[in-house]
Amino acid sequence: MQVAIDGPAASGKTSLARAIAARFGFMLVETGKMYRAVALGLDRGLDLAAIHVTMNDAGRILLNGEDVSDILHTPQLDQGSSRVATRPEVRELLVRLQREIAQGRDVVMEGRDIGTVVLPNADVKIFLEASAEERAHRRASERHETRIDETLQAIISRDTRDQTRTIAPLNPAKDAIIIHTDNKSLAEVVSEAIALVEERFHTGDTAAK
Ligand code: C5P
Repeated sequence: MQVAIDGPAASGKTSLARAIAARFGFMLVETGKMYRAVALGLDRGLDLAAIHVTMNDAGRILLNGEDVSDILHTPQLDQGSSRVATRPEVRELLVRLQREIAQGRDVVMEGRDIGTVVLPNADVKIFLEASAEERAHRRASERHETRIDETLQAIISRDTRDQTRTIAPLNPAKDAIIIHTDNKSLAEVVSEAIALVEERFHTGDTAAK
């Protein structure tokens, strides 16, 4: 079973993916962290050719063997990752890694191009939508940021870059189910998504009979 979750910055992809992974025992793959780790490597002065990003069995992201999972969510890496994500050679490497991880496993993978590019045959594709203002509020409270206007601007600039890049731009797959999350609690979104996965399990069973 492959579940793809895409959507713009701070739309709640990680929280939803984590809940689905916990509920069904699937492996959680946070692909944004991989782009962030590449950006961190560049910030540290490494050459792209000397940057090796991997994921271990616990889902932790390693940069040249070092577990960097907990230092990837900074405003600097928000922008750095989305800049590096426009580079074809970076996408090629990371998409290959993501497909290898998904091979033969039950996964829930979240990002921007999972339903469109990485796992086009995913069993369930979800695209999360929320207004930029709502997302800025969520992000600011999560990171204890007080300048909502700055958080909002940062989100808008990242979304624009992600939507307008030439390769694998952010947009919903044709067969994705779009969930609008404004005015919905995480619990509501999670139960909608879980119902979709369960429905898919069910139809899978019927098809096999
Ligand atoms: O999801 P997250 O905010 O951690 O992603 C960081 C950046 O990585 C995004 O703004 C986007 O530019 C890039 N990304 C991507 N494709 C993915 C996941 C993330 O281009 N599948």
